Amino acid sequence: MRKKIPLIRPLIAEQEVEAAARVLRSRMLAQGAITADFERKFAHYVGVNEAVALSSGTAALDVAVKSAGIKQGDEVITTAFSFIASANAILYQGARPIFADIKQNTFNIDPEDLQAKITNKTKAVLAVHLFGQPFDVAAIREICADHDLLLIEDCAQAHGAEYEGRKVGSFGTGCFSFYATKNMTTGEGGMVTTGDAAVARTARLLRDHGQADKYVHTVLGYNYRMTDVEAAVGIVQLEKLDAMNAKRIGNAYYLNRHLTLEGATLPHAARGTTHVYHQYVIMLARATDRNRFEAYLQAHGIGCAVHYPLPIYQQPLYQSLGYSRELAACPVAEEVAQSVLSLPVHPALTRDDLAHIVQTVNGFEGGR
Ligand SMILES: Cc1ncc(COP(=O)(O)O)c(C=O)c1O
Repeated sequence: MRKKIPLIRPLIAEQEVEAAARVLRSRMLAQGAITADFERKFAHYVGVNEAVALSSGTAALDVAVKSAGIKQGDEVITTAFSFIASANAILYQGARPIFADIKQNTFNIDPEDLQAKITNKTKAVLAVHLFGQPFDVAAIREICADHDLLLIEDCAQAHGAEYEGRKVGSFGTGCFSFYATKNMTTGEGGMVTTGDAAVARTARLLRDHGQADKYVHTVLGYNYRMTDVEAAVGIVQLEKLDAMNAKRIGNAYYLNRHLTLEGATLPHAARGTTHVYHQYVIMLARATDRNRFEAYLQAHGIGCAVHYPLPIYQQPLYQSLGYSRELAACPVAEEVAQSVLSLPVHPALTRDDLAHIVQTVNGFEGGR
């Protein structure tokens, strides 16, 4: 029997194991010199002055929104189509997420809809480079500049992705996740990247209980620290990131060249972007029964999943907060949520795995 092809598989080798073991043997486990080294290397990679390591991508978003001075009564425009953490970061400050629709061909926030949703309460834009593809950075930066809005980039799914030759996370306040499924991982972990020394200072304060000096606490902070064990793994993963992304891109090209499933739309990489294929997301034809297709793939040993089955405002949490259809309607996101499916694209796939995925997908017999 052929082994199941998982949807996601982190590439962990002896180097990561050895790096973590070295820190464990040193008994110096908490945030220290290794984390500082990881921050320097990550900042250099992204092309910014400062990177602040945190305990998760959610912590990174939380700290980024808070350091932007967002507070109760403010509105922050974000995409309707992402993992819920993107919008929750706005709720944490008591501010109101306003959802903009997406472009169907990239699944990323639609600049025109974003522009239409700006009010005199809007303070910032929190846009997501979803599935590894940069959003329309030029259009969104222009809107932010015209309306004096801060830009927060959710880069949780886009380590190493580029827009016009520049890395994501260098255009606004960048927020990365190193969760186990991401393009590079520390198990759990996050990073804020910024060119603004004040944002970095606030992020460092917030992650460590607002401690400005030893046992002197100036603001209400948290424990959002990364451990040196995680940072040691992160340093090795960062060294491999470009090679792992190149594998993902090669796998996506192979699938794009060979998949012929009727009516399906394959991922589209917008011009001027380097898409790093955190997920390889196809859109099924209306006539295709997604549940049946998923069950068929699983039965043939191919992991798959729906990212995401609901626009964020349709999540029960947001419904309970009063996001009725009149207040939030993003028809493209609603349609996309009904028809997307993610197929394996991770760097551990073999040629044989890819051939099996192609043969199986292309062999699916039709509609509902
Ligand atoms: C788009 C997006 N934003 C934020 C997060 C939150 O990151 P974390 O799980 O590290 O808290 C994730 C991933 O989980 C994500 O996919």
